[in-house]
Amino acid sequence: MSTIQWFPGHMAKAKREAIEKLKLVDIVIELLDARIPYSSRNPMIDEIVGEKKRLVVLNKVDLADDKLTKEWVSYFKERSIDILTISAKDGKGLKQIQEKLKDMMSEKFEKLRAKGLKSRPIRLMILGIPNVGKSTLINRFIKKNKAVTGNKPGVTKGQQWLKLGTEFELLDTPGILWPKFEDESIGKKLALTGAIKDTILQLEDVSLFAIDFFARYYPESFKKSFGLTQENLDLPNAELLMYMTERMGLKDDYDKANEKIIFDIRSGKLGGYTLDHVSDMLLEEEDM
Ligand code: G4P
Repeated sequence: MSTIQWFPGHMAKAKREAIEKLKLVDIVIELLDARIPYSSRNPMIDEIVGEKKRLVVLNKVDLADDKLTKEWVSYFKERSIDILTISAKDGKGLKQIQEKLKDMMSEKFEKLRAKGLKSRPIRLMILGIPNVGKSTLINRFIKKNKAVTGNKPGVTKGQQWLKLGTEFELLDTPGILWPKFEDESIGKKLALTGAIKDTILQLEDVSLFAIDFFARYYPESFKKSFGLTQENLDLPNAELLMYMTERMGLKDDYDKANEKIIFDIRSGKLGGYTLDHVSDMLLEEEDM
C-alpha cells in the first residue's frame, strides 16, 4: 500500500523527475490499472509525456471484467494510442510488450540502418500512479530477461539501467505520479482497488460505494458471495449494509463489515470487475 501523501510540492517534484527521466528514454510505458483505466491515469499525463512515444499498458487484467477490458482497448485504439493488456503478477503479456516496443521503434531503427548506423537497445521507463504494478512489472522483466544492472556514463546520477537481453534497457526506478483527486467517486474507486490508502477516505463511504456499484453492475456475483437475494439488493444502501453486517455474524461491528466487503471485492473474490466505464468517459469528453 502506498504511503505517499501528495502535496503540491511533491507533485511538482514528481512531475520534474518524470520529465527528467523521460528525456533519457525512447518509449514510456504508461501503466494503468485495468479495473480503473480512467481513474488510475495521472491528471497531467499528456502534458508530462508530451511528444515522447508512449505505450499504454492496462495491468491486473486478471482482476478486471474481460468484456469491459476489451471496450477500453478499443477506446484507446480508436484514439490511435498504442495499448496492451497484461497481468504483471503472473507474467502474462510480457512477450507482447517486447514485440510491440520493437514494432514502435522499427521505423526509427530502419532509418538508422539506411544511414549505415547500427540499431541500439530500446531505452524504456515505466510511469504510473502508486500501486498500479510498476515494481511488479520491473521484477518480471528482470526475471524474464535475466537482467543485469549497469551504470552508464552520461546518465542522471543515481539512475541505473537494467539491461534486458540485448534489445532493451529499462530505467530501474519507475516514474511515480499522483492520482486524480478532484472527484469523490474517483477517490472511492482508487480506494476500493487499493490504489490509495484506506485511511484517506472513510471506510464506510468506500463500502457503500462498493455496495451500490456491485448491486447495480454485478448483482449475481454480489448476491452469491454475500448470500443475498434480489429483495435485499433493492434495500437502500445503508440498510443493505446493516443487513449484510448482521448476516456476516458481525452484529453491529460496521467497521469489520466494511473491511470485509472492501477486502473481498478488492482481492477478486467476487470475480473480475471494472469500475470505470467507457460510456462515462465519452460523456465527459462531450462536455469538454
Ligand atoms: P507500484 O510499484 O506501481 O506501486 O505497484 P506494485 O508493483 O508494488 O504492486 C502493487 C500491488 O499490486 C501488489 O500487491 C502487487 O502484487 C499487485 N499486482 C501487481 N500486478 C498485478 C497483477 O497483474 N495482478 C494482480 N492481481 N495483482 C497485481 P500487494 O498486495 O501490495 O503486495 P503482494 O500481496 O503482492 O505482496
